[in-house]
Amino acid sequence: MVVDLNNKVALITGASSGIGKAIAQDLDSAGMKLILTARSQDKLEQIAASLNNARVLAGGITDAEMPQQLLEFALESYGKLDVVLNNAGMMTVGAIEEVNIDTIAQMVRLNVEAVYRMAYTTLKHFKKIGSGFLINTSSIAGLKTMPTYGAYNGTKYAVEAFTDALRMELAGTGIKVASVAPGTVDTGLYDSWTEENKDYITSGGALLPEDIARSVRFILEQPDPVLIPRLLVVPTNQPV
Ligand SMILES: NC(=O)c1ccc[n+]([C@@H]2O[C@H](COP(=O)([O-])OP(=O)(O)OC[C@H]3O[C@@H](n4cnc5c(N)ncnc54)[C@H](OP(=O)(O)O)[C@@H]3O)[C@@H](O)[C@H]2O)c1
Repeated sequence: MVVDLNNKVALITGASSGIGKAIAQDLDSAGMKLILTARSQDKLEQIAASLNNARVLAGGITDAEMPQQLLEFALESYGKLDVVLNNAGMMTVGAIEEVNIDTIAQMVRLNVEAVYRMAYTTLKHFKKIGSGFLINTSSIAGLKTMPTYGAYNGTKYAVEAFTDALRMELAGTGIKVASVAPGTVDTGLYDSWTEENKDYITSGGALLPEDIARSVRFILEQPDPVLIPRLLVVPTNQPV
């Protein structure tokens, strides 16, 4: 028996494009009530307007106050929070001579620090109420390394380790923690890449954001005694 998601409340970070937007659309079709966040208020409002039940709180997720504000906004909006999708992230890769250390530091703040802050803030709430589901968007880059990907790999390895330790810490509390680890997905993540690098990364094909959204829903719909701690999803023809 799958869990009925209807009327449950989910908070989605990085909801203005790509995977987060697709997750919002999929969970909306399951009858969930949504809080959408990212920096691009216009995009979020357009997405929310196309959904049945979504509210927007725009802002930078690396702002230390943002997780608490989002939690309070969810509770004010819907009276509860059931699911957190810690999805916002960025990727900067490159050879040692090419990388910009400030951009890397920004990536660490977004992919690691903001994920930790959001998780601890919302898990404290979940512990008080004795239920909740946290899913972190990791990556295949959190399971295996590649030359020139080291800094990004490090952020996603951190997400994997964090997720797994939290899952064990929370076993038996009614709270579930999992990660979804996509391979290449056709999203805005590659917008700033050169055509040559994009061709390389998509040479085995790329997934659609909807493929990851379906995977997230699959994790969420498992019956209470069942937890999928990590779901790795890659393009069939990519030899990764
Ligand atoms: N695409 C892939 O191949 C792939 C593969 C594995 C894992 N992932 C992971 O999937 C997640 C989603 O990425 P995506 O592929 O969907 O890329 P995307 O289309 O670029 O989406 C990134 C999202 O994060 C938000 N964001 C970026 N910086 C932010 C900040 N400082 N504060 C708040 N929100 C911020 C963006 O919105 P604003 O710009 O409006 O703030 C956007 O909504 C990331 O964690 C990424 O690492 C992607």
